[in-house]
Parts: sequence; structure tokens; C-alpha cells
Amino acid sequence: MKPKIVIGNWKMNKSFDEAEDLICQIEDKLDEYNLETEVVLCPPMIYAELVTDHANDENSHFYAGMQNVSEFENGAYTGEVSAKMLADMDVAFCIVGHSERRKYFGETNAIVLNKMLRLLENDIVPVMCCGESLEERKSENHFNVVQKQIEESIYNLTPEQMERTMIAYEPIWAIGTGETATPAQAEEMLAFIRSLIEKKFGTEMAVNTYILYGGSCNAKNALELFSQQNVDGGLIGGASLKPDDFVKIIEAGETVLHEN
Ligand code: PGA
Repeated sequence: MKPKIVIGNWKMNKSFDEAEDLICQIEDKLDEYNLETEVVLCPPMIYAELVTDHANDENSHFYAGMQNVSEFENGAYTGEVSAKMLADMDVAFCIVGHSERRKYFGETNAIVLNKMLRLLENDIVPVMCCGESLEERKSENHFNVVQKQIEESIYNLTPEQMERTMIAYEPIWAIGTGETATPAQAEEMLAFIRSLIEKKFGTEMAVNTYILYGGSCNAKNALELFSQQNVDGGLIGGASLKPDDFVKIIEAGETVLHEN
């Protein structure tokens, strides 16, 4: 079994001082461990230097991530930040295609693909989010929706690019709602996503690709979710803002790794 990856998505939360405090608290708690689980912190972009400074410390236990990037390389795109700029700041991971970005900022699968390509060109690992709405699940269309998201983005990558890409399945009805997918639902969809990767890129790539679950994953349910065969870790929103809870989720990753 490969080590789990736990990614904290802070969304648009925390003042600068609070962000620094949260990073320091997580850092202190992780100091007690000899961790194999990989941890990524994705604060708001304006705190990029803060998080990369801490991540670059030789004793650091986490990587710096971001929540978004421009789909363009550079130029007259007021307000945007390029993948090259993130790379210059030593950002190592970046979430793309989060359902909130798809919903509020009109991100299509084509835009998501462009963002992934810009990140890969700059050696940043894209964490591509996919997932269905409640209506889509109720109408039993969830597999089709996720398949389309994968086919229109991931399927356009070369094998070399795919090797450096991660996927996060986040059912929209579970994000920030307190309603988690059951471990069986998460496992079923993650196994399906892995089968899609296998179909396009072969078995080895499918086995090696990190596929995470996100959506109300918390200190209480992480162990059971992470125990599922296809769940390689979690993309954590609300619980990543609480240092004790976030560290418990990381501990769940360690427990599952060492029990298997
Ligand atoms: P949540 O958010 O853990 O608060 O549900 C997850 C996410 O949106 O990445």
C-alpha cells in the first residue's frame, strides 16, 4: 500500500496572523511524528510565501499547495496568477477544477485541462477535482458525470503528464454539508475512476495514481474512509482549519498504512 496523502484546502479563510498561527500549530503537532503520510497545505494564494517559507524549512513535514491557478501562461489577464509564478514561489501542488470554481467561476473541463497543463509545464502537481451533484446522483447519472470530467481533462494528458497528476473525487453534496459519502460509496467511485485511468493509461499507471476522497472528511470518519482499498488519502476542507482535527486525519493515514 502506498502512503496516504492528506491535503488541507483552507478555501477563503483566515487572516494573515491566523494563517501563520495555524501553520505553526500543525507544524508543532507534526513534529512529534516520523510521518510517511504526505501532507499538503493549501491556504489562500496571498499567503503563498508564508506557506512555502515554512514548507522549505528542512524540518518541515508538509508541502505548499495552492487552490487555483490561471489557465494562461502570462500577459494581460488582470487579477490572475500564473503557474510559473507559483513555481517561482516553490509551490509544489495545486488544486484544479474544485466544484466551487466550476460553480461560481464557470470553470469547464476545457479550462481545467488548460490549468493542469500550465501546472505540469511548471513541475507543479495538479490535484484535479471531480464529482457529481445531488441531482446527478439521485438520477443515477453520477458515473457518467465523473467519466465525462475525466475524459475531457485527464484523457488529454500524455502518460508522462499523467504520472505527475492526482485526482480528488468530491461529491458536491458532501462538500461542507457534514454529509459524507459512505465508505462504500467513496470506494465504489474511486474504483471506477481507477478503472478509467487503467483503460486509457494501463494497469501500472492506474495502480500508481493517487486518487483522494473529499467531502466532509473529518477526524471521526477518516480512518474508515482511508481503510478503503482505493482511497489514497483525503482533500480536507473545514476540518483542515482545526489543527487537532487535521492532525487526527493525518494520524488515520498513518494507522492505515502501518496496519497493512
Ligand atoms: P469539506 O470540503 O471537507 O469542508 O467538505 C472539502 C473540499 O471542498 O475540498
